[in-house]
Amino acid sequence: MEHKTEPEKFILDACCGMKYLWMNKNHPNTIYMDIRQEEKGFNKNRPFDNVSPDIVGDFTNLPEEIKAKRFKLIVWDVPHFKARKLTGNLLKCYGGLNPETWQYDLKKGFTELWSVLEDYGILLFKFSDYHIKFKEVLSLFPVNPLFYNITNTSGKSDTKWFCFMKIPIAKSKTQRVHK
Ligand SMILES: C[S@@+](CC[C@H](N)C(=O)[O-])C[C@H]1O[C@@H](n2cnc3c(N)ncnc32)[C@H](O)[C@@H]1O
Repeated sequence: MEHKTEPEKFILDACCGMKYLWMNKNHPNTIYMDIRQEEKGFNKNRPFDNVSPDIVGDFTNLPEEIKAKRFKLIVWDVPHFKARKLTGNLLKCYGGLNPETWQYDLKKGFTELWSVLEDYGILLFKFSDYHIKFKEVLSLFPVNPLFYNITNTSGKSDTKWFCFMKIPIAKSKTQRVHK
């Protein structure tokens, strides 16, 4: 008799939103997390889109079921705009950074996600420098990215993907650069 086992979940999308990034929006090895759920129709420009994470959770304080796991790949596409209220379609879709606490939130988020990344695991961080400079945001993290790639350039901002690898301290003398 054939036994069906649950696929192993070794990928975490910590801010899945509408899953626009994904080729397969229900990838069997992935846990999709977001801080919110939204029904179809919440985005008036794309009436069939929703926000439907497997787990509703906050990257500044990960849920226990996430804390209990270790991931090989973490995708972290945080909101890029500072905003007090999520008004306007762009903010409704992509969320906003709290203007008072964004530094604490991103610093804590990085630490939380790093703690559930396995050794030699990869964390991909996406950011756009519309309101906040890349240098400023990277200085919040205790580890330097290995490299980045620019995926979008407009007159006002660039969007970059930064690749971090969790190289065990014993194997690396250069990982921890920022104070
Ligand atoms: C830039 S959007 C992500 C878009 C997504 N990658 C996609 O392909 O559709 C940022 C997402 O982060 C979520 N978010 C904001 N703060 C969060 C937090 N503290 N924990 C988890 N998700 C958060 C927002 O709800 C929003 O859906």
